Amino acid sequence: MTTAHLTFDQTDDKIADRVKKMRSSAVRDLFAAATRPDVISLSGGMPDVSLLPQASIKKAVRAACDDQRSVALQYGATDGRKETKQVFCDLMRDIGVRAKPENILITSGAQEALDLISKAFINPGDIILAEGPTYLGALQAFSAYEPDVRCIAFDEEGMRTDLLEAELKRIGKGNPRLKFCYTIPNFQNPGGVTMSATRRKRLLELADEYGFMVVEDDPYGRLRYDGGHMVPLKAMDDRVVYLGTISKVFAPGLRTGWIVAPRDVLAKVNLVKQGTDLCGSSFDQVVVEHYFTDTPWQKTLQKFVQTYHVRRDAMLSALEEHFPPEASWTRPEGGFFVWVTLPDYFDTGSMLSEALEAGVTYVPGDSFFPGAAAGKNSMRINFSFESPENIAEAVRRLAHVIEDRLELYRAFLEAGAIQAPSASQPTD
Ligand SMILES: Cc1ncc(COP(=O)(O)O)c(C=O)c1O
Repeated sequence: MTTAHLTFDQTDDKIADRVKKMRSSAVRDLFAAATRPDVISLSGGMPDVSLLPQASIKKAVRAACDDQRSVALQYGATDGRKETKQVFCDLMRDIGVRAKPENILITSGAQEALDLISKAFINPGDIILAEGPTYLGALQAFSAYEPDVRCIAFDEEGMRTDLLEAELKRIGKGNPRLKFCYTIPNFQNPGGVTMSATRRKRLLELADEYGFMVVEDDPYGRLRYDGGHMVPLKAMDDRVVYLGTISKVFAPGLRTGWIVAPRDVLAKVNLVKQGTDLCGSSFDQVVVEHYFTDTPWQKTLQKFVQTYHVRRDAMLSALEEHFPPEASWTRPEGGFFVWVTLPDYFDTGSMLSEALEAGVTYVPGDSFFPGAAAGKNSMRINFSFESPENIAEAVRRLAHVIEDRLELYRAFLEAGAIQAPSASQPTD
């Protein structure tokens, strides 16, 4: 006979107030379901690391295990190895930013950078501006420091700077609570949209006028499938705090990213990083150095770009073919994600169990808004990881799930049980 054990959480009354308000990431929660063999996952944001050449990886890892083992296995400087910083200066030069090693601090991925910046700059109640929807990992990083995150809607040209200006007028010039604007200008996560040159310029003008910092998060900038290179905000204004990462162009398993910022900003970030982890992984940094200096990484990047381009096209064609006319979606020129908007009366959170049953996952749109305040009728779908055939099949399955719900709503409407829906809004 088995005995049931009831366990009580004895730390509940000890937990910090700020943690009580934190939400678990829907993507992390969906991880287990997404690995079921009968489910095609459109929920993650993973690069396809199977495209990485084994020989290059082995060469880079061998260097860390052999010749450079004494440094690779040792503690390092809090701001990172100077050789790794040089690699990142070279990567920045390629995209038009002239950075010096003293303006770089190496982090454990862009995620740690978001946490460190929040730790260094946010007091409870401070105002942070961001696209709405925005990267949910950023919302998680911010929320630990209890800011008031104000979301600015985007359209196909990125963050609506007219709405940003209206929000700034409400906040007022010289408001000491206003700290920074967080933006993902290239192929935004989750929106897939790219900020136009005019909006970039306007954002920087507003930053000047209202006195806030601009944090530019750019994990996807090199993964462009159509259109021309956009000048980074950091190249337009040296005061911008730029976040880079190797996660989408090399390997997220080597937790390595970097911040390019003025020295006064980096000094504060360095101070808080000391308390977080003393220093990043020296081993990972040595591997990264070798990968970007001794292996044909540009060829591999091309392979990533070609592969994701085909997958993006497969997703857009499948959406055209299968999705109902009531749905709208973004058409990203790069990156990993498409943002789908359904009529207002949809709730993609409650629809997820039906989607799982049909063998497909996505991330419900409200995960990308602070406090799940909006986005219930939208979803993020990813095209970087699955094959084109699987993507087409997943979109077909999802279309059926949506169609079933639509039928139900139509029946309710006919019966007069609910009111006629208003027209859907494309991206906000
Ligand atoms: C916009 C954005 N910023 C930051 C990150 C975190 O990246 P990293 O793996 O470098 O921590 C991600 C990861 O998906 C992202 O999409």
